Amino acid sequence: MAETMSPATERTVPRILMCAPTFFEVDYVINPWMDGHLHDTTSERSGRQWDALKDTVSRHADVVVQPPAKGLPDMTFCANAGLVYGNSFVPSRFRYEQRQGEEAHDRAWFAHHGFDVVDLPEGVFFEGAGDALFDRGVSRRLWMGHGHRSDAEAAPALASSLDVEVLPLKLVDPRFYHLDTCFCPLSDGYTLYFPAAFDADSLATIERHVPPGQRLAVDEHDAVLFACNAVNLGRVVILNRASADLRSRLEGAGFMVIEVALDEFMKAGGSAKCLTLRLDELEGA
Ligand code: ARG
Repeated sequence: MAETMSPATERTVPRILMCAPTFFEVDYVINPWMDGHLHDTTSERSGRQWDALKDTVSRHADVVVQPPAKGLPDMTFCANAGLVYGNSFVPSRFRYEQRQGEEAHDRAWFAHHGFDVVDLPEGVFFEGAGDALFDRGVSRRLWMGHGHRSDAEAAPALASSLDVEVLPLKLVDPRFYHLDTCFCPLSDGYTLYFPAAFDADSLATIERHVPPGQRLAVDEHDAVLFACNAVNLGRVVILNRASADLRSRLEGAGFMVIEVALDEFMKAGGSAKCLTLRLDELEGA
């Protein structure tokens, strides 16, 4: 029987999905971070770092755990399972076959937990909440990254199936291959981002929609430590590492910064945000 999650609107504590790194390793190379790290992780280190992230997130959200699957080492990066909006779940269609085996597990998990599965057109690549991030200041606004993993054609498809405004952003630096590696909408419209990861038109889009006082541009030093790959829960920002300068800018904007070391996952090209998926993305909120 399907387990139905209580409607998002009745909840105040955020709900976050995580998937244990039981089968995590760097087994193939599909982004520049994985290069040189084949079989270079240990389950002891990844398990310890993931537990620390889960404990930290659990202090600010309800964590729901999805069972991992053998032979799918990147499934722990559950941001890529798909995109949640209200009770709808748009499953990912992974670009690389190494991750395509995750699709059936994710679809089954979300259907079993009472979500309506909304498919994008066949043949359109889309990597879920890795490339699609709701604005935290303006309701019904979705930022969507394309250029490496997701196709630009996913943008109009998401706009019509979810009835939201989609702002496509073209990613141009292969190190920042998912939008959540270089862009993070924060509460009250603040936006953390690494400008050099975007083409000129996309930067202009960001600047047109985010007022200067709410733009938190990070430098390359913070960007390569995955500072933009942050989990934002209310006024809390959980990330791998932030420089003193970035920390003080975030604190100046009213955020509390919590660092959790996630270097074992960075060998696969992921960090805090990739290891989580928000399950209570409110429709119309
Ligand atoms: N090795 C994974 C990949 O290349 C890492 C995914 C990180 N996830 C994310 N949302 N950025 O697909």
